[in-house]
Amino acid sequence: MAFLFNSDPERGAIFREIFASLLPDLEVFQRDDDVPPEQIRYLLTWSAPEDLTAYPNLELLFSIGAGVDQFNAETLPPHVKLIRMVEDGLIRMMQEYVTLGVLALHRDLPAYQDHQRRKLWQSLPARQATDCRIGFLGLGRLAQAAIERLKPFGFPLAGWSRSEKQIPGVRCFHGAAQRPGFLAQTDILVCLLPLTAQTRGMLDQDLFAQLPRGARLLQVGRGPQLDQTALLAALDNGQLAAAMLDVTDPEPLPQDHPLWSHPKVTITPHIASVTQPQTAARAVAENIRRHRAGQDLIGLVDHTRGY
Ligand code: GLV
Repeated sequence: MAFLFNSDPERGAIFREIFASLLPDLEVFQRDDDVPPEQIRYLLTWSAPEDLTAYPNLELLFSIGAGVDQFNAETLPPHVKLIRMVEDGLIRMMQEYVTLGVLALHRDLPAYQDHQRRKLWQSLPARQATDCRIGFLGLGRLAQAAIERLKPFGFPLAGWSRSEKQIPGVRCFHGAAQRPGFLAQTDILVCLLPLTAQTRGMLDQDLFAQLPRGARLLQVGRGPQLDQTALLAALDNGQLAAAMLDVTDPEPLPQDHPLWSHPKVTITPHIASVTQPQTAARAVAENIRRHRAGQDLIGLVDHTRGY
């Protein structure tokens, strides 16, 4: 019975070490090891190998990231459970990045960076956090953790999700019917949705038009959720005041793409949150323990929902 770590050997070595103490009976293979495929019960990987039937005894397929859109859940053998990464290191990094982005957008950092490039010493009207309404598209684990970090600043907090949620201190909206009302009361929109058929292209001209004029966007979901042409138009006509993007479509963003040099846009190269091997190894080991004990798994993907 074995576990295959199909990613970089540095992080794999850390998994091997932590598994040796938490799951001593489990053999851990790395990507370049000579792996007997029938021994593999558990596989951790960024994307699925071409042919999963090469591992006839596979039970658990772990995504190395929080997202699982790179897997085609519908083509997975029915007995294979797909699990997204839920681990403290990744959650903490997302809390940091969302706090960074929300504060940067709230305090006009993109505009001041543009002023700096133009050697312009000029202040802009500032508003209080209590007057800046933050709206989360997506209210999963990462969004809820980020919301906790934002609470002390005093921002009015709201969120929209597909199905109904109740989160203390957060005005919760759900379903298509409540989306316009959510957008109409959002000054900084934070997208933390998973990529699914429903969310692909969701951040489009129609959605931007439903935000208050001068709203800002923090995109930490997935590149294909955003219509980049519509974003450029909304920034140029003033409907949006600024955008911070950690994900684009495609990645990397092509050299000649107008988003790179747009004065209202800040781009980071998909670094908001990265799986941390020490904490991830513990989270994966805990899920293997739960699986063996017949208990519920953390981060189990619902194949029909796609996340
Ligand atoms: C990063 O985007 C992840 O899915 O963890």
